[in-house]
Amino acid sequence: MKEQDIDFYSLGFEFIETKTMFIAEYKNGKWEDGKLVPFGPFEISPGACVLNYGQGIFEGMKALKTKDGKIVLFRPEENAKRMNKSAERLLMPSFDNTWFIKAVKEVVLANQEYIPPYESGGALYIRPLYIGTGPILGVAPATEYKFIIFTVPVGPYFPEGFKAIDLEISKKYTRAAPGGTGSTKTICNYAGTMKPAKETKEKGYAQIIYLDASNMEYIDEVGTANFFAVIDGKIVTPKLKGTILPGITRKSVLELASKKLHLEVFERDISYKELFENSCTEAFCSGTAAVITPIGSVTFEINKRIFNNGEPGEITSKLYELLTEIQRLDINDEFDWIVKIES
Ligand SMILES: Cc1ncc(COP(=O)(O)O)c(C=O)c1O
Repeated sequence: MKEQDIDFYSLGFEFIETKTMFIAEYKNGKWEDGKLVPFGPFEISPGACVLNYGQGIFEGMKALKTKDGKIVLFRPEENAKRMNKSAERLLMPSFDNTWFIKAVKEVVLANQEYIPPYESGGALYIRPLYIGTGPILGVAPATEYKFIIFTVPVGPYFPEGFKAIDLEISKKYTRAAPGGTGSTKTICNYAGTMKPAKETKEKGYAQIIYLDASNMEYIDEVGTANFFAVIDGKIVTPKLKGTILPGITRKSVLELASKKLHLEVFERDISYKELFENSCTEAFCSGTAAVITPIGSVTFEINKRIFNNGEPGEITSKLYELLTEIQRLDINDEFDWIVKIES
């Protein structure tokens, strides 16, 4: 789609083609530099490892416009590091973090006319995608890979203002098991969550809260976001134990809560039953897409717990403001999280 045909003020989270993508290949044991090419399809062998055995990983990031028109990224080094960790788990070749950030900047600049204006609250979503393209028959890593980065303009997560969502705690499905790939951003982790998401949406919930696969007791995370609760006035989030994606927003929220709001923060097991106790006063999720999304209620079977009359809680709202103000440089970036893209 041409940028002049896009209404930046009514964007959702749908796929929209932009002009340019980045592509690099790994062959004969080494990475090529990669280049910008027009967005479009490429050929892939039906024997490709990614198509047969799911050897593929991705990242999700956003480029934002600041009030004075600068283009900024949020902690891109963290995405580079996490993608390399995902690569290591899937026996894919590592890459240089600086090369990754340079490529991300190049794609964003090449598509800069697609970055929604500051006033729209939207962003240019960035999707780095890394796949095993070499053909393989036995289950083993590919010998050839493609690294692609494409972008999509997206609207704000809360087009009608900051609103709470209703979630369902499910014991029917799990997302990740100990020793598995839950802490990586492999494409395989996501296919299995589509059916649970569809079923819960049909019941009127926005998403599922996944519990740990061993005990079906402790909260892991929420669809594509990390989970937080305010219990006895303290911020708690499930500790990372290999089954949870180590969210970059999660890491930032922990820092904001302790250093800016001076709250005690705990990474620990959280039983879903704790959400039904009076000591738990707020809950929210965090993620690149979700930013900070207040949780208005959680339901387990016939029991429903409503937080704060279904309105965003005070601590949740403060964290949302702080995070989004730093991300758009409305306030000083005192943690050095923002990377400017200069042409
Ligand atoms: C499963 C899962 N958990 C959590 C997150 C949040 O991570 P981040 O804050 O890095 O976007 C995401 C989104 O990337 C995700 O897919």
